[in-house]
Amino acid sequence: MANSELAVVILAAGQGTRLRSRRAKVLHRVGGRALIEHVVRAAQRLGAPIYVVVGHQAEEVRKLAEPLGARTVVQEPQRGTGHALETARSALRKFRRAIVLPGDAPLVRAETLEALGQAHRATGAAATVLTAILDDPTGYGRIVREPDGDGIRAIVEEKAARAAERAIREINSGIYCFELEKLWPVLGELRPENVHRELYLTDAVALLRQRGERVAAKAADDPREILGCNTRREMAEVDCLLRRRKVEELMAAGVTFYLPETARVDADVEAGPDTTIEPGVALLGATRLGAGVTVGTGSVVADSVVEDEAVIRPYSVVEGSRVERGATVGPFAHLREGAEIAAGACVGNYVEVKKSRLGEGSKAMHLTYLGDAVIGPETNIGAGTITCNYDGVRKNPTRIGAGVFIGSGTELVAPVEVGDGAYVAAGSTITESVPAGALGIARERQVNKPGWARERRAQPAGAKAAAGKAGAVKQKAGPGKKWRSANGAKHAQAKRRR
Ligand code: UD1
Ligand code: CA
Repeated sequence: MANSELAVVILAAGQGTRLRSRRAKVLHRVGGRALIEHVVRAAQRLGAPIYVVVGHQAEEVRKLAEPLGARTVVQEPQRGTGHALETARSALRKFRRAIVLPGDAPLVRAETLEALGQAHRATGAAATVLTAILDDPTGYGRIVREPDGDGIRAIVEEKAARAAERAIREINSGIYCFELEKLWPVLGELRPENVHRELYLTDAVALLRQRGERVAAKAADDPREILGCNTRREMAEVDCLLRRRKVEELMAAGVTFYLPETARVDADVEAGPDTTIEPGVALLGATRLGAGVTVGTGSVVADSVVEDEAVIRPYSVVEGSRVERGATVGPFAHLREGAEIAAGACVGNYVEVKKSRLGEGSKAMHLTYLGDAVIGPETNIGAGTITCNYDGVRKNPTRIGAGVFIGSGTELVAPVEVGDGAYVAAGSTITESVPAGALGIARERQVNKPGWARERRAQPAGAKAAAGKAGAVKQKAGPGKKWRSANGAKHAQAKRRR
């Protein structure tokens, strides 16, 4: 039989009333992951089977916990933390001990859980409680020590605590290690004699003591690790701590942060050495940055891969995209889902790219939209180029070959192709494919009307309709007047009055 000594139980059935949310508490996200994901991941490292007690929005919680290898047990209705553990009783029948922890304390580290398990085995107590000393213990259950100071006599919930108990700064983390054989009988004795009419797991301590069992305490090394997320305020604090921890981990791995307190980095982000993160950057989701990457001020990179030596210049948004080795993006660029910027390619300011590949060494430097396009290597996309990929019904592809020159202000009406080495004249609206090596030009021929502008300016105000008919123009610009503004006519009138 696999490790039948130890199981881990995560209590995650509660609603989290204090959050005033429609979502169950453990589904809320801090540090870029749902609370329950943080806790399951920490528990995973113990190598013991994990059981998650689910209730509120059980399906959604299950969808997060099960892919991480946890099993779930349903608690319905939710009658308190003691009742939650009782619900897992039959699932736990072959285990000797369990480490029990709440689903809403995402800062807890695997090392701390391991140390709790070790301390428990060393003392041989029926239960060991992970405790912490907080400057402000408000909201937590207080630890009432045995008169000799060793061991725990009871845990008193804040609402039931008398003044002297409220003054105790040692609190219950909600994380315990239990000898299950000793625990089950006392869970049966829990009574809902409290303000919430719930069965409190914390009452098990006093009940074990009444049976002559010992309950030990293990103090957490870092009291911040046990912070719960009961309110939005606590959640913001925990989010901040998780993100600081993440940034510190990346710095230790060789990543430079300027003004690190302004960075927002999700838990799953990876980054290689000599990567530089400028102020106010968000690195979100499953983002992976290679080595020597720069992410400029104010940029957001989400669920994207940025390879070695690539540069994301300031104020760019990169989502679901791939920026390959040495490519440059921004400033003010937007890469949307499925954008691929190949090695050495450049995307400049006010360029949006969606589901498109810009080939190696190719450039799209200014004011451009590339959607559903595949562009070969060493191609230049002129300023203001637009792939017209949507015909009102469906999205159509544009293919542009290698070494192509697309002149500025071109519209490529998809589906359309431009072959290798071709040119497209600036200002063209391309509706038919341009063969390799050809020049595509699709715009009206220019007509110049000599003298038109001078005559137009000489007209009296309000005589617009006559513009262009030279015979209708009475007043001509005076001699020596080379140039007049668009209000030239007004100026001319003023002059006449003098
Ligand atoms: C609990 C402890 C308190 C401790 C604190 C630490 C109790 C009675 N009190 O209080 O001593 O200081 O944790 O964070 O245990 N849950 C269920 N089913 C239920 C009720 C709760 O699964 O019927 C789950 C919740 O989803 C949550 C966890 O148990 O993840 C703890 O419940 P919560 O209501 O947050 O307890 P606290 O009031 O924080
Ligand atoms: Ca809590």
